[in-house]
Amino acid sequence: MAEEIVRLPLDCLGDGELMRIERPPFNVLLARVDGAYHAITDNCPHAAWSLSEGPLRGHVVTCPGHGWPIDVRTGLVAGSRSIARRCHVYEVRVDDAELVVYDNLPVELVTLGADDDGSVG
Ligand code: FES
Repeated sequence: MAEEIVRLPLDCLGDGELMRIERPPFNVLLARVDGAYHAITDNCPHAAWSLSEGPLRGHVVTCPGHGWPIDVRTGLVAGSRSIARRCHVYEVRVDDAELVVYDNLPVELVTLGADDDGSVG
């Protein structure tokens, strides 16, 4: 069973808002869009800037580093189907009126750390 990263109140974010959850070695970006929560690694798959610093429009957060658009639902570069560079997508569930983010990172990624370019997965 996946380990819980965090439990938060269901109203912890307003619609269209982002939050960074500190979780070394990979921080987590939590986003709320149209009432649904999405969680991906906070490190941009390009050069690891914090995506939580970027603007969120619809399901796409724009990296403040060099402008890559990342879809918070898939962790992929928006408009791309390539999985070569992507953010890891965490499991988010509602449990007992709380929002729970689960750590479902493959063990080998946790023990090895990020790739040289900061991407995971
Ligand atoms: S670090 Fe995100 S686009 Fe370069």
